[in-house]
Amino acid sequence: MVYTRNMQKIIVAAKSDNRVIGKNNQLVWNMPADSKFFLSTIEGTYLLTGRRTLESSQGDEVFGPHREFVIITRNKNYQADNGKVRYSIEEGIETAAKDGAKVLSILGGAKIYEQSMDLADKMILTEIHGIFDGDTFFPEIDLTKWKETSRIRYEKDAENPYDYSFVVYERTE
Ligand SMILES: NC(=O)c1ccc[n+]([C@@H]2O[C@H](COP(=O)([O-])OP(=O)(O)OC[C@H]3O[C@@H](n4cnc5c(N)ncnc54)[C@H](OP(=O)(O)O)[C@@H]3O)[C@@H](O)[C@H]2O)c1
Repeated sequence: MVYTRNMQKIIVAAKSDNRVIGKNNQLVWNMPADSKFFLSTIEGTYLLTGRRTLESSQGDEVFGPHREFVIITRNKNYQADNGKVRYSIEEGIETAAKDGAKVLSILGGAKIYEQSMDLADKMILTEIHGIFDGDTFFPEIDLTKWKETSRIRYEKDAENPYDYSFVVYERTE
């Protein structure tokens, strides 16, 4: 058993007001302000991704050879150009800790978020203020276990078609 307590585990996601995070394995909005915030949030951290998110439309931009990351799959034959392939979330977290990560960014998608909610210490979320049609959803946040500690709201502008908020949750138990 590897000691992972010194490594902060942060869920990073963007979700709409109806908790949509994606459709047809891609994002359903184009929000440059969120992309910029997302990239600065994960900069210098170790990443954990589900296999489908790696293969999603935003995968190439995020999971390049310059990043340290683990890919979670049940497929023992899965081959990846970059990153380390692991067969459970726990194994992925242990790999990051063994590699000396101080911060692990858990980048989804829905299947990974659902199973990580009880393992993470913090969530850094972008709320995109709109109702979207999607096929993948962020889990409900259990407010008996999580407390909102920061929220900053921005209005839509010429580049960003929806109002949005950057929100932080910290685990309370
Ligand atoms: N808005 C956002 O912040 C955001 C962030 C990330 C993703 N997304 C969107 O979310 C969608 C993808 O999410 P998703 O839920 O479909 O897929 P996902 O969570 O990225 O990947 C699911 C896959 O991960 C593997 N997996 C999951 N749990 C596992 C476990 N316990 N043990 C071993 N392997 C496990 C399986 O891979 P195998 O099938 O290979 O076994 C499973 O099919 C896309 O639309 C993407 O654009 C949005």
